[in-house]
Amino acid sequence: MTRYTGLVDHYRHRLPLAPEARPISLGEGRTPLIRLQNLPSKLGFENELYVKFEGLNPTGSFKDRGMTVAVTQAVHEGARAIICASTGNTSAAAAAYAVRAGITAFVLIPEGKIALGKLAQAVVHGAVVIQVLGNFDDGMRLVKEVGQTTPVSIVNSINPYRLQGQKTAAFEIVEELGRAPDYHCLPVGNAGNISAYWMGYSELTGRTTLASRAFGDAPAYDRTAVTDTRPVMVGYQASGAAPFLRGGPVKVPETVATAIRIGDPQSWDFAWAVHEESGGWFDECDDDQILATQKLLAETEGVFCEPASAASLCGALRDIRSGRIAAGTTVVCTLTGNGLKDPDIVMKKGLAGLIQVPAERSAVEKCLTERMR
Ligand code: F0G
Repeated sequence: MTRYTGLVDHYRHRLPLAPEARPISLGEGRTPLIRLQNLPSKLGFENELYVKFEGLNPTGSFKDRGMTVAVTQAVHEGARAIICASTGNTSAAAAAYAVRAGITAFVLIPEGKIALGKLAQAVVHGAVVIQVLGNFDDGMRLVKEVGQTTPVSIVNSINPYRLQGQKTAAFEIVEELGRAPDYHCLPVGNAGNISAYWMGYSELTGRTTLASRAFGDAPAYDRTAVTDTRPVMVGYQASGAAPFLRGGPVKVPETVATAIRIGDPQSWDFAWAVHEESGGWFDECDDDQILATQKLLAETEGVFCEPASAASLCGALRDIRSGRIAAGTTVVCTLTGNGLKDPDIVMKKGLAGLIQVPAERSAVEKCLTERMR
């Protein structure tokens, strides 16, 4: 058996990389597609419901898929530094892959509102962390501006190599299920990931998408059809940061799901094309619903995702209940990031659940007998 060495090696034929580009990898990809068992029976529905747990990538989010390809290409082009604006996960991935490549990472993060675990990742990997006194959209604007005057390679999802890497999650799902699911549900911030999945699913049917066609002078790569079905793509936003529901940018985005606290999505056109071509829709979930779903998933299935990730399952459960997602169909929800990145959010409420006892056997035994399930 050959050792798995990451996405670039594994899917190279389906990526627009020059043959001589040296992979910069941390062994990302091959994340589990977990079939939910307890939740469907608890809620009384018969859909085959899966979560693609992207929180198990090396830096704990789906960003690693895009970063391995973007940094591989940047280094191939001779870049000595990369830069991104980030709500946290992109900066964590950029920091780690820059170390791996031996180059500098500059990361622009918004004022406050970034999960501590993500900030710790950027710091521990030695990125240059620049806090912008503004929100993610301000950081994004600044990155685009300095990218024009300074020799740094932008690794936000406006970099088409990012989406190329992220499309591989769709490949893995089709390989595991033997076909595309009927519905694919994702949380939406910048809308890069939903565009990337659609590109992945489409290429497996031999088609291109707006996102792949926007990829200018790419070396030709394999788009051989291996299936003839594509899913309906459904994107869920946090109510306080839902430009796709409002029909335009949201000036002051606000949500507890800080990863998707974005008011001016960069992949606006791609995402509307996905909406149209897949026959899908956008919807919103409020903060209470998002946190309740994060907890529900953790308590019933043993999977701990971050709040933004829970938006996909939150919306999917609601749409299954209402029948908008048809009964009996196969549904995949992407859980984009690991819950461990943002423990504060659960511990604020969770601390109340701690039980203190004297250091005595009888006290512990009493506690156990009272609480056995
Ligand atoms: N979920 C998580 C955990 C994220 O970190 C992000 C984006 C998304 C969903 C949304 O994905 O932007 O492709 O629609 N995080 C970016 C960052 C913005 O900076 O880490 P999208």
